[in-house]
Amino acid sequence: MSEKSIIEALQWRYATKKFDPSKKLNENQVSDLIEAVRLSATSYGLQAIKTVLVNDAKKREELVACSFNQQQIKDASHLLVLCREKELKLEHVQGYMNDISETRGVALESLEGFQNMIVNSILTKDVEDQEEWMDKQVYIALGQLLTTCAAMEIDSCPMEGFLPKEYDRVLGLSELNLKAVLVVPVGYRVADDAYAKNKKVRRSREKFVVEI
Ligand SMILES: Cc1cc2nc3c(=O)[nH]c(=O)nc-3n(C[C@H](O)[C@H](O)[C@H](O)COP(=O)(O)O)c2cc1C
Repeated sequence: MSEKSIIEALQWRYATKKFDPSKKLNENQVSDLIEAVRLSATSYGLQAIKTVLVNDAKKREELVACSFNQQQIKDASHLLVLCREKELKLEHVQGYMNDISETRGVALESLEGFQNMIVNSILTKDVEDQEEWMDKQVYIALGQLLTTCAAMEIDSCPMEGFLPKEYDRVLGLSELNLKAVLVVPVGYRVADDAYAKNKKVRRSREKFVVEI
């Protein structure tokens, strides 16, 4: 995609309030969106994040009430819940080392220093700091997902207006050692979503950029 068209795509996208329930994404599109999240950059490459695709229509209905009644949750073609590990465990770090070893054909022993560095800098943090660190990784993935949606002319709505504890309950996330951080319904806007016609409000370039 050329530089001009990516900016046009970012102008085109907006946080969609009304999705057309009859317009569905196809499997390839959904797969590409999940791939965009999977390919997100993460600190140390540790990937303490996961995507939950909610296919169960009843659960999506139930989640509306846990999302301040925002109808996008049930009306959008698909619903992605971007999660992080609930508790960051040593096994997660070890699993990552195994993946590097297999993918790059390097001996596990040669990764010992890298593993220790991650353990010493992340696993020794307070639990709250670890959680905040993992949350940040999810927000990076969100940005990548929104841009990918825009590039594919798929509508989306980034959402933190929901009750994570209720999502955990409805989706059984705790049993999967996951915590919901962000919700992203994706699909197609209805023709009469008034928000689509609103001009974007962004600070002027003068106010936004500092050149030093
Ligand atoms: C982290 C985050 C959380 C958001 N939560 C919600 C939400 O719960 N519901 C909603 O309708 N919009 C939500 N938004 C959308 C913002 O209101 C919107 O991105 C902002 O007003 C800029 O408008 P635009 O994205 O349409 O350009 C959220 C956006 C972000 C980045």
